[in-house]
Amino acid sequence: MLLEGAKSSGGFNGMPHRKFIVDKCKTIFFAGHETTALVTSWSLMLLALQPDWQARAHAEVLEICEDKPPDADMLRSMKVLTMVIQEILPLS
Ligand code: HEM
Repeated sequence: MLLEGAKSSGGFNGMPHRKFIVDKCKTIFFAGHETTALVTSWSLMLLALQPDWQARAHAEVLEICEDKPPDADMLRSMKVLTMVIQEILPLS
């Protein structure tokens, strides 16, 4: 999509296509990396401080995933995990 968009837009403010694409990739990489790293660190620390919630989240993952790797449907159905993440997001 990025490549198609860059091709059809004819560049951005006179920026060459190649630089435009590299710039966008860097933005997506850093936006995705920093945010998920912070949320993951906060989640692990706060769950360590709240062993009861850690146990509830753990039990839910075991119940829904059984021995399979999680997919998008499984993640969507995890209510406890969603509650945990929603509590943590504003802190991180
Ligand atoms: C828990 C994880 C994340 C949080 C909390 C988060 C938060 C945000 C927020 C608040 C904004 C809006 C910033 C603003 O304009 O005021 C934003 C924009 C953006 N995020 Fe995330 N983000 C997360 C994960 C990711 C990931 C995984 C990616 C990419 C793989 C990503 C890519 C972007 C990009 C490219 C924008 C700019 C969108 C635009 O302005 O068109 N983010 N993010």
